[in-house]
Amino acid sequence: MDPLRPQREVVEEAGRALREGLLVAFPTETVYGLGAHALKAEAVARVFLVKGRPPDNPVIVHVGYPEDVEVVAREVPKAALLLMARFWPGPLTLVLPRSPAVPDVTTAGLDTVAVRMPSHPVALAIIRAAGVPVAAPSANRSGGPSPTRAEHVLEDLGPDLDVVVDGGPCPIGVESTVLDLTGEEPLLLRPGGVAKEALEAVLGRPIRLGRGEEAARSPGTRHRHYAPRAQVMVVPGPELEAAARRFTAQGKRVGVIATRPIALPAGCHVRVMTNGLPQYARELFHILREMDRLGCDVVIAEAVEEKGLGLAIMDRLRRAAAR
Ligand code: TXA
Ligand code: MG
Repeated sequence: MDPLRPQREVVEEAGRALREGLLVAFPTETVYGLGAHALKAEAVARVFLVKGRPPDNPVIVHVGYPEDVEVVAREVPKAALLLMARFWPGPLTLVLPRSPAVPDVTTAGLDTVAVRMPSHPVALAIIRAAGVPVAAPSANRSGGPSPTRAEHVLEDLGPDLDVVVDGGPCPIGVESTVLDLTGEEPLLLRPGGVAKEALEAVLGRPIRLGRGEEAARSPGTRHRHYAPRAQVMVVPGPELEAAARRFTAQGKRVGVIATRPIALPAGCHVRVMTNGLPQYARELFHILREMDRLGCDVVIAEAVEEKGLGLAIMDRLRRAAAR
């Protein structure tokens, strides 16, 4: 459907399906989500089953209005209110104390819940039509690249879903930023669509990145993530060409993601992101899937500076590269 003018009947039907406990995939501004009634344990359990998601990895609960955060969170700290006022609706997920209304499967048994209000008109309309909080992890098979187009969702999960709403490509392309507000100080658990610098400006303090022990607070960061079949390598711009030549010489089929046009050996598949970090983020997961389809053995991606959206891009690339 038209991403800017969601059709009423389709929205109502998708909302009804969610309310009844069915699985509905829909576009958000970040990636496609696989939605289920967040308060119905059986519906959320089916999400884990269909995705092949480890049961210790909680899902994000999506709300249609800021006030609805109170349905799923026991307490909303002042920092959360500040951030919600500035970044909701949008790609910011807040980890808050969980309300007893939220079943264990949704939060993987944690005493906290991750909540966000998406800004995509189709996502918002469907969640509002459902009239219930909607649990929605990315609508991909667990471990693979996230889906940024309806085709990706159909490729990965098509036969197992009840409804797939096609609203075109997702405008941001990497997932929401996840910020934990349940500890002594705010902790960035996953960089994403809202820049860390923008959060720091609103909170008036530096934000630490959750690492090691703390990363366990966002269980998803422990699992294999975003990886296509091809081996992924992240290299600085000046080394791209040499790396591509080395693998081509070994008889490998090579894909390259670069930020500027470069000379490459014949047979390399190259995608050039001349429109900056937003384009890199928007197209990254699509390109990783495309390179698999082209039969690439290796994808060599140009590293970017870890500032703004660059932090999220590098996070996804590193995880895709980890074996
Ligand atoms: O942009 C997004 O956030 C997309 C769209 C669909 O909204 N959703 C998404 O969901 O990326 P998912 O399930 O693929 O990633 C959720 C992340 C995981 O890393 C998970 O561990 C973390 O959020 N998370 C969920 N609940 C949490 C909690 N209570 N505490 C800490 N981390 C949590
Ligand atoms: Mg995911």
